[in-house]
Amino acid sequence: MSLPPGFLDELRARVPISRVIGRKVVWDQRKSNQARGDWWSPCPFHQEKTASFHCDDQKGFYYCFGCHAKGDALTFLREADGMEFMEAVKHLAAEAGMTMPEQDPRERQRSDRRSQLLEVTEAACRWFRLQLQTGAAAEARDYLARRGLDQAAQDRFEIGFAPGNRNALIQALREKGYDEARIIEAGVAAKPDDGGAAYSRFRDRIIFPIRDGRDRCIGFGGRAMDPNARAKYLNSPENPLFDKGRNLYNIGPARAAVAKGQPLVVAEGYMDVIALALAGFEGAVAPLGTAVTEDQLRLMWRISPEPVIALDGDIAGQRAAQRLVDLALPLTGPGQALRFVLLPAGQDPDDLIKSAGQGAMAALLDQARPLVDLLWTRETEGQSFDSPERKAALDRRLQEAIAKIPDELTRRHYTDEIRRKRRDLFSGDWKRGTQHDQRKPGKGGRGMDRRGSGRVPASFTPLPTVPLDGPNATGTFLEGACLLICALRTELLATIETRLERLLPQDSDRAALLHDLLTGTDSDAGRRALETLRADAHLGLTPSLIESQEAENVLAILSNLFDRLEAQRAAGAELARAEAEIQGEVDEGLTWRMQQITRARHRAERPDMEDTGDLNEDRDALSAQLEQFLSGQIWRKPPRR
Ligand code: UTP
Ligand code: MN
Repeated sequence: MSLPPGFLDELRARVPISRVIGRKVVWDQRKSNQARGDWWSPCPFHQEKTASFHCDDQKGFYYCFGCHAKGDALTFLREADGMEFMEAVKHLAAEAGMTMPEQDPRERQRSDRRSQLLEVTEAACRWFRLQLQTGAAAEARDYLARRGLDQAAQDRFEIGFAPGNRNALIQALREKGYDEARIIEAGVAAKPDDGGAAYSRFRDRIIFPIRDGRDRCIGFGGRAMDPNARAKYLNSPENPLFDKGRNLYNIGPARAAVAKGQPLVVAEGYMDVIALALAGFEGAVAPLGTAVTEDQLRLMWRISPEPVIALDGDIAGQRAAQRLVDLALPLTGPGQALRFVLLPAGQDPDDLIKSAGQGAMAALLDQARPLVDLLWTRETEGQSFDSPERKAALDRRLQEAIAKIPDELTRRHYTDEIRRKRRDLFSGDWKRGTQHDQRKPGKGGRGMDRRGSGRVPASFTPLPTVPLDGPNATGTFLEGACLLICALRTELLATIETRLERLLPQDSDRAALLHDLLTGTDSDAGRRALETLRADAHLGLTPSLIESQEAENVLAILSNLFDRLEAQRAAGAELARAEAEIQGEVDEGLTWRMQQITRARHRAERPDMEDTGDLNEDRDALSAQLEQFLSGQIWRKPPRR
């Protein structure tokens, strides 16, 4: 439905946002300034005791400094009350005393159609429930009892039973006045292609009604009791009501539980959700018979900044988790994270709770691992990295994965974390190596780099840093060093090109050089940039050093340079964003955040140094490192032959 221009603005202007939000939160009276339309409260989107949720009547906006939830009154109605956009508009219009424009007839038809279908699914849901009480369902009741679903649980999840009869449901629905076409479209009956009579889709199955976030019955899942049935589960087909990729089983109750502080747990199956909820993990949801989709991830993140994925501990579950890693990386960022629970082999949450109890599940949830761990495990588990080529391949895969993360600061933290893991892994190598090696590490420049471990000692990495005489001096220098090194060692380009591509030099000659490097071409501007870099006094030492280094060492240096550059840029961008967001408004939380960012940038410019907070001390430490570097004690390695 299209709205006339200006309608939404008028709407937002007429209803103070604090009135909409005030129904869901308790304002912090001391922190808020009512007269100025400046409101603070604990955030309704995440669990907290302090008031970091801000709402501004002048701007008509809210923003949470904790979980970064933000938006206007319409966003709030959608995210906090689960309304659809048009519904939120109508709700606000009623409150503002504004008349909604006439609805587009086609849209009205669609929404009428949906409400007609909903009548059918609700009627079918009641009918399935009733069947479970009949004599024909004795076996089904036994089955449910065996699986631990007592009467209360059956009521809570509206469990039903579809008898074997092909016609009974259709008959019952027709008697209520619904025509066959509608019964079929609602997904509970099907018609064979050969034009035969319509028949019930679900037969001889336990029925799990599926409700959307607004508690409307949009479809069903049916579990066969016969272990030899062709499909263990049968679900409603896609139809105007049932969009499998955009809904989650148990979403409504889960949202309510998460709002009360429960974790949002994502399991694979209906029975897992029920077992979890019965064991007290009420924030449980599951996809609807398909792999988790991007829409479902977004739906989860609207409810919780960090859903916990608890997929089955079998090969299919592992593979599903890996697919989720790929799906989530390009979307992840602050307030959009994932954690993963690793279930014992061959078990799902339902099995685990049955066999080991609620406590075992709670313990696993506590140990849920972040996305970055899964990425690392996937790329390294069971593999050996005993050659530079293998290490380079690993680095490349990880860099490519991290490059998919859109949020700069998050990307930076992934890089940090992966670097830590990488160091641990390769230094493990190195220790094992020394046990069988008589040579003393470090002596005569041999040792460390000869181990083939790829370990980069912390003192190895610093490069000379120019005096900080302008905000971008360090960045420009680091960028120049990257370009020069790449130009000197073009055989390494393939390994680092994904990071090189993102260098985006401001200077047009440097941009040309970058282009030349990436495409293997040769331009005047590029050559000019290279000459300037070769002649740069700060880089004076680099060409001879770089040309004689082993590939592995050069890659380590480059990777360090890129890390520092990217960290600097990320911190800069985040700072700019924070500054823009508050437009001069200052509060304690914000000042703290700015400080943290500034410190992070400070650290990024001078890695491997304690953040003493004292600039002079920092400078002294830096120049000491620089001296060491220049005297070649740390840096210089045996030249290549
Ligand atoms: P599982 O086979 O892991 O189901 O499939 P489960 O929940 O553990 O079932 P029980 O414990 O054996 O009863 C997980 C989910 O995959 C879908 C269903 O949504 C199921 O809940 N599925 C599974 C199907 O759609 N069709 C199938 O044939 C099997
Ligand atoms: Mn199961």
